[in-house]
Amino acid sequence: MSGDATAAFGTGELLCSLRWNDDGQCAEVIDQTKLPHVLEWAQLCSLESYCHAINAMQVRGAPLIGITAAFGLAQAIARDPSDASIRHARTALLATRPTAVNLRWALDHISMAINDLDKALRAAQALASAQRLRNDDIQVCANIGQNGLGLLTNLSQGDVLNVMTHCNAGWLATIAWGTALSPVYQAHTAGIDLHVWVSETRPRNQGMNLTAWELQRAGVPCTVVADSACGQLMRDRLVDCVIVGTDRTAANGDVCNKIGTYLKALAARDNQIPFYVALPTSTIDWQCASGDDIPIEQRDTDELLFADGVNDSGERQRLRVGAATVRAQNPAFDITPASMVGALITEHGVVEASVDGLLSLRENS
Ligand code: MRU
Repeated sequence: MSGDATAAFGTGELLCSLRWNDDGQCAEVIDQTKLPHVLEWAQLCSLESYCHAINAMQVRGAPLIGITAAFGLAQAIARDPSDASIRHARTALLATRPTAVNLRWALDHISMAINDLDKALRAAQALASAQRLRNDDIQVCANIGQNGLGLLTNLSQGDVLNVMTHCNAGWLATIAWGTALSPVYQAHTAGIDLHVWVSETRPRNQGMNLTAWELQRAGVPCTVVADSACGQLMRDRLVDCVIVGTDRTAANGDVCNKIGTYLKALAARDNQIPFYVALPTSTIDWQCASGDDIPIEQRDTDELLFADGVNDSGERQRLRVGAATVRAQNPAFDITPASMVGALITEHGVVEASVDGLLSLRENS
């Protein structure tokens, strides 16, 4: 495994979210549906297992979804490099989750890398491209962290810096570092005294289950709060800035991220608290003029009506919370208008969330 040295932070064992097992010729991913109670790796050895991992959210987070799909396509090509088989694998992977534009971006990347190649050469090239995407992601996220570090340094006045985040945009959502959490990790490493408010992120609890787990392993002080507590924390002046990730950013700077992000942006604006979005440029969808063009993923209402956890003996349990007869709806993402985003923190620099801000990135990337 290469390129993992930068994933080292905190006191925990060195980890990254996805690794390639050369011996087994398969990818291994941390099964995020088991966290924070069990750290378990899932082996992805067939197209079906890749599709399942993304669809069932064993892996999630826009950059990791893309990279996992890239390995899935590479493995499908190794099995059968014919055009028909590649088309089939690409279609299946693309259908796994609808929001993260990195999925399409990563699949396009692999397709372009092998397009003009003889069938005999496709497998090796596809795997090399997937590995390059993985290694690049580590560097991209490290750069996001460096660029965001400047913002956090400016905000830190010597007292503890209180950062709020939502969902999980840490290294579990990428390969290493993360997007929104990368500046946090780099600030922590630089000796800035900080504390993170982690909103639980109902209904799947990515904040409580993943972000708090990551931060604790890294030794970054954090506190989990109910999603509905975040506005009051801001009113009480307990939050210095909010940083979140994004699954898709429209060409005008509107941001699509985990449901509940918009409410945080509203509360941040009402309390004059900076609201930042951290993203790799692969998350920009140039074909979407605004957030209105981004379809909102609707997920199974069981995610809302059932709770998942472990009992006192550590056994996994699923409990019905909502009445069996109640009607429910489960939108998984929302749109935060560009006007509410203080800045976009990217691997190429910090820019305004606007058409001009994004175009300046396009010129640089
Ligand atoms: O449904 P999820 O858990 O895949 O949603 C993830 C998010 O909303 C993250 O904030 C986003 O992907 C950015 S990850 C760096």
